[in-house]
Amino acid sequence: MNILILGSGGREHALAWAIRQNPKCDRLIVAPGNVGIAGVAECADLDVLSRADVLEFAQENAIDFVVIGPEAPLASGVSDALRSAGFLVFGPSQAAAQLEASKTFTKEICDACEAPTAGWARFADAASARDHITAQGAPIVVKADGLAAGKGVTVAETVEQAHAAVDAIFDGEFGDMSVVIEEFMEGEEASFFVLSDGTGCLPIGTAQDHKRVGDGDTGPNTGGMGAYSPAPVLTDDLQAQVMERIIRPTVAEMARRSTPFQGVLYAGLMIRDGQARLVEYNVRFGDPECQVLMMRLGAQALDLLLACAEGRLAEAAVTWADDHALTVVLAAEGYPGSYRKNTPINGLNALPETGFEMTFHAGTAEKDGTVVATGGRVLACTGRGATLAEAHQRAYALVDAIDWPQGFCRRDIGWRAL
Ligand code: AMP
Ligand code: GLY
Repeated sequence: MNILILGSGGREHALAWAIRQNPKCDRLIVAPGNVGIAGVAECADLDVLSRADVLEFAQENAIDFVVIGPEAPLASGVSDALRSAGFLVFGPSQAAAQLEASKTFTKEICDACEAPTAGWARFADAASARDHITAQGAPIVVKADGLAAGKGVTVAETVEQAHAAVDAIFDGEFGDMSVVIEEFMEGEEASFFVLSDGTGCLPIGTAQDHKRVGDGDTGPNTGGMGAYSPAPVLTDDLQAQVMERIIRPTVAEMARRSTPFQGVLYAGLMIRDGQARLVEYNVRFGDPECQVLMMRLGAQALDLLLACAEGRLAEAAVTWADDHALTVVLAAEGYPGSYRKNTPINGLNALPETGFEMTFHAGTAEKDGTVVATGGRVLACTGRGATLAEAHQRAYALVDAIDWPQGFCRRDIGWRAL
C-alpha cells in the first residue's frame, strides 16, 4: 500500500522507520519530513495544515493510508477532509481532537464519565481567576485553555506566581484565551498510550519522559529531553485500573456524544498510592515518547494503526518482546530559549542503524552536503535492549559518537528507573 505520514519531527521519523519495515508498505511518503526521514521514505513539500493541499496530494499519489503525526493538522480538521473523501486515516476528527486542544472540553468529559482528575474551574477574566487562586492557596496549577505548544501550563508554588501566570495569559501571551485553574496533584507522572477505533481500545505501551532541560530535573520545561518505555510505575494492575476508570469511560463518552475518538489517546497520568488520575490527554503520539514506542513495536506498528483506522481493534493484539527502549534528545545550545540555527553536525553517517539502535531526526536539514541543525530539539538517540540499562548504554553510545559542538543533552535520562 501507499502510505502518507504528515509531520517532520522525531516522532514522524520513528513512525516512518517502523512502518517501512512492514511488508505491507510499498511506497512511503512523509510530508514535509526532514533529512533523516529521507533515509527511510520519500519526503514531499506540503502544507500539512491545508485540508485542500493534503487532499489533493493524497489523490494525486494514490495514497491508501494517511497517518497524521502532530496535533496541529488534527486540530485544523485535516483528518475530516480526508475521511469524507474516502481515505483511510489514522488520527481523530477535529471534534475529537478537542480532547487535546481544549482543557475545558477534557475536564467536562472527565466530569461526565467520572474519570479521576484534578479539581478545576474555568475563568474568562483575570480578576475572578485571581480571586479563586487567593481563596484556594498554593501550590496550584494555571493553564491557558488552548494549544500553547506545551508552554501554557504553570505549576505555581506561590499565590504570587499563580497570579502572574494568570496576568500573562490575559495579557495575550497566548492569543485570545480563557484560563483553567486546577488543584495541584502530587505523585509520579507516567504516560499511557492506547489506540481507540471509536469503540474498542488497545493499550500499546507506557513511557516516562523528562520535561526539564537540565540534569536532575532542573531548569525550564521543554517538549521533552528524553523518554523510556516501559514505565515501571504503570504496573499491569494500574494499567487495568486506568483502562477501566479513565480510558474506556472517555471513549464511551466520546461515542455517546457522536464524536467517536479514533487514533491514539496519550494519557498523561499522575500516580500516587496505587491510584492514577488524569493530568491531560493528547490525541497523537508524544515526541520523544513515540521514538521509544516504535523502537519496541517495530513493523507491527503499521498493522496496529491500520486495525485502529479500519475499526478492527477488537481482533488486534500487540506482540510484546520483553524489552526496554530509551531515547536521549540532543538539542541546540540555548533551547528551550533562543538557539543558533544551521550549526553543522558530523558523525551521523557512521552511526549504526539496527533494531537496537537508531538516531531519529527532529530538526535537521542538509546544506552543501552537511547535515545542519534547524530546530531546538534536533536528534533523538534511541536504544533498545533486554534491560533498561542496556537500552541506556546503546542510546548514549550513539550520543557520544555524534560530533556537534553546539548541541547538548541530559546525561541522566532514565535515572528514576535505572
Ligand atoms: P499539561 O500540558 O496539562 O500536561 O501540563 C504540563 C505538565 O504540568 C504536566 O505534565 C505536569 O507535570 C504538570 N501538571 C499539569 N497539571 C497538573 C496538576 N493538576 N497537578 C500537578 N501537576 C500538573
Ligand atoms: N513529549 C511530550 C509531548 O509530546 O507532548
